[in-house]
Amino acid sequence: MMITLCRIRLAQRPLCAFGLRRCGSALAPGRPTTTNLLGKEYPTDDKTNITPAIAEKLGRKLYLQPSHPLGILRELIESHFNNFTAHSGFSPIVTPAKNFDDLGFPADHPGRALSDSYYINNESMLRTHTSAHEVEVFARGDRRWLLTSDVYRRDEIDSTHYPVFHQMEGARVFRSTPEGMTELEQDNARLSEHLAQSNIVIEDVPHSSPTNPIPSIYSNHDAERMVLNLKLSLNSLMLALFGGRAGSAEEPLRVRWIEAYFPFTSPSFEVEVFFHGKWIEILGCGLVQQRTLQLANIPHDVSWAFGLGLERIAMILFAIPDIRLFWSTDSRFLDQFTPGKISTFKSYSKYPPCHKDVSFWLPSEGLHDNDVFDLVRDVVGDLAEDVKMIDGFTHPKTQRTSRCYRINYRSMDKSLSNDEANALHTDVITQLRDRFGVEIR
Ligand code: DAH
Repeated sequence: MMITLCRIRLAQRPLCAFGLRRCGSALAPGRPTTTNLLGKEYPTDDKTNITPAIAEKLGRKLYLQPSHPLGILRELIESHFNNFTAHSGFSPIVTPAKNFDDLGFPADHPGRALSDSYYINNESMLRTHTSAHEVEVFARGDRRWLLTSDVYRRDEIDSTHYPVFHQMEGARVFRSTPEGMTELEQDNARLSEHLAQSNIVIEDVPHSSPTNPIPSIYSNHDAERMVLNLKLSLNSLMLALFGGRAGSAEEPLRVRWIEAYFPFTSPSFEVEVFFHGKWIEILGCGLVQQRTLQLANIPHDVSWAFGLGLERIAMILFAIPDIRLFWSTDSRFLDQFTPGKISTFKSYSKYPPCHKDVSFWLPSEGLHDNDVFDLVRDVVGDLAEDVKMIDGFTHPKTQRTSRCYRINYRSMDKSLSNDEANALHTDVITQLRDRFGVEIR
């Protein structure tokens, strides 16, 4: 997997270590025939892999709490784009068609795998990104909009990865008529003037290239102006979020544009910001492909769109060291923040870690890393700070595969005794054996 909070790179996710078969169904045989989510019963089937730990997170709506860092950040971005309609509260349960097909994801895209996404059953899943709602929001006729939601991806366990996180999607639609293009020109002039007076240095890439082409619905001239509008709009957002915070007051904010690939945009880009000595990936964006606009019944319009991960930005701006803290109900965390204000988080205490290893032979059908991670989350919740596979080999004679995982147990709220950590670890081992049939070594 990629190193940090690489949540926006749905397009190119690497395969798991050791190239093992991806299985992914986290429910043991004999699972219940229905599962209750947000007050509704859903039938389960061979695709069901949502776990109780995940089900419990649905409906928490952290991003709507005014004094939660995610809520503060959402409001900051919404006030920057103050003439955009701000949406929230869309159900996280969507069809795979909405999440993938409508956006042009190929049938064999790795993001669709059971090992990468949470499925409720064959017909429904938890959205993996806010882009899942693009078609319906465009279809409402909204021409400037933002949408904030919780999104879900099966992933590793460490201080920057959590299977539930938050994204904000934004888009602006223009008419591809002379009037629409005049509006675009005027907006570009206004934004360029604002940026010219700001302390920002931009490393740019061409608006399009043979590897990042302009779709046929756009004339080249219109597309160039649209991409310019996208770049100016997002550079000014970066300035609002990071300007004056990235370095010393005299140091300019550095923003870098990179050519990217997403199935639903072309040309596509990623935006990075230089913060505390390194480049940090902030968002993905591009010109919306015609498929989306057609499905939304606006085939004669053109639009740009972007999607950003709120946790990564909030971790930087509020200096929050561990992604689990966003879910904390401890007043020592929650009481530190004030609506409308970015403040530096003060760690109340770091309790000692407790590492424990577990080694086992895999069952013959294999086991995906993400199955192990989900099981750990299910059994010990947020008491697991990180989980790493530290060893793996295949026995030359028997061809059986062994793996060793190191689990670091650490509570954010209190000191865990060795006995408590041992009891948690014993539970994890028992469940690994019972649910997956692994043979502990
Ligand atoms: N949905 C993408 C992801 O999570 C991010 C993204 C990229 C959103 C490009 C967009 C976009 O709206 O235009 O990986």
